[in-house]
Amino acid sequence: MHRLAETSVPTDPTPETASFRRDLVRGLARKPRSIPAKHFYDARGAELFERICELPEYYPTRTELGILRRHAGEMSARLGPRCIVVEYGSGASLKTRILLDHLASPAAYVPVDISREQLASTAAALDAAYQELPVLPVCADYTADYEVPRPPGEAERTAIYFPGSTIGNFTPDEARHFLAHAAEVAGPNGALLIGIDLEKDAGILNAAYDDSAGVTAEFNKNLLVRANRELGADFRPERFRHVAFWDARHGRVEMHLESACDQRVRIDSHDFALAEGERIHTENSYKYSVSGFAELAERAGWRLGAAWTDADAWFAVLYLEVVSPSG
Ligand code: AVI
Repeated sequence: MHRLAETSVPTDPTPETASFRRDLVRGLARKPRSIPAKHFYDARGAELFERICELPEYYPTRTELGILRRHAGEMSARLGPRCIVVEYGSGASLKTRILLDHLASPAAYVPVDISREQLASTAAALDAAYQELPVLPVCADYTADYEVPRPPGEAERTAIYFPGSTIGNFTPDEARHFLAHAAEVAGPNGALLIGIDLEKDAGILNAAYDDSAGVTAEFNKNLLVRANRELGADFRPERFRHVAFWDARHGRVEMHLESACDQRVRIDSHDFALAEGERIHTENSYKYSVSGFAELAERAGWRLGAAWTDADAWFAVLYLEVVSPSG
C-alpha cells in the first residue's frame, strides 16, 4: 500500500492564530471595519459550515453535487488518464470521491490545505479508500508558493480541482491572481475544474446567507467567539447582529456583524469603540455568469473548455485548460 507523505505536514500550529490576531487588529482599526473571511474556519467554524451546506436555503453544495453526479464521466473524459489531481481546500468529501471514482488511472491525489488537522484527516480517509492511488498531502497556503510533489508513476498532466465556489470569496482581482498562480502550478497542458456560483434572484441569495435556523448567523458570530478563545478578546457576541444581503452593484452577497449598541472591545492592548449600527464586514461571496468568469480566467492564462450547470442554472462546474504560449 502507498504510504502517506507525512513529512510534508509541518508540526507548528501557531501561524494561523498569529495571522488571525494581525488581521483582526488591523481590520478593526480601519474604516469600514473588516475581517478576512478565511478566519471563519477554526474547528467550530468548519463544523458550522458543514451544517450550512445541509440547510434547505443553502443550495450551492447540493446543486454542485448534482452536477458532478450527472457529468463526472464527461469531466473525467476531459481530464484524461493519469492526471495528478491537486485539490485546493479540504477534500475527503463526497465531491472529491465522485471525481476520483470516475477518473481513468489518476497518477496521484494531492490535497493542499493550510490546516494541518484537516489535511491529515483528508489524506488518511482518501488513502484508506483508494489503496492504489498515491495520496501526497501538502500543508500550504494554496495562494502562495509550494511544490506539487512528484507521483511515483507516470503522469500526463496536472489538474487543479477547486470545488465549492470558494473562488467567490475572493475579490475579482484576487480571483485573477489566484487563477494566474493556478496556471503556473498546473503548467503547460494543465487543467482546472472549478465550481462557481451563478448570479440569480436576490431572494434566493438573501435566504441562502440568512437561513431561518440561524446557522449562518452563528457561523458569522463564531469569528468573535474564536477571537475571545484564541486571542483573549472580550467580544460579547449577543451584542452583534448577523447581516447578509445581495449587493447587485458589486455582484456579491455581503456578510457583516452589526453592533447592536454603543460598545467597546479589547484585544490585547487595543481598544475599539463601536457605535450602534456600525458594521464589521466579514465576507463577500461573488456570483458570476459563465461568460464573465471565462473572461476573467482568460486574462489569467486559461481557456474555457466546457461548462456544466443544473437545470435552473444556479451553479456551474467549469473545465479550463492552460493556454500554451503558442496559443
Ligand atoms: C466557502 N464559501 C464558498 C461559502 C460561500 O457561500 O461563500 C461560505 C459561506 N458563507 C456563508 N455561507 C456560506
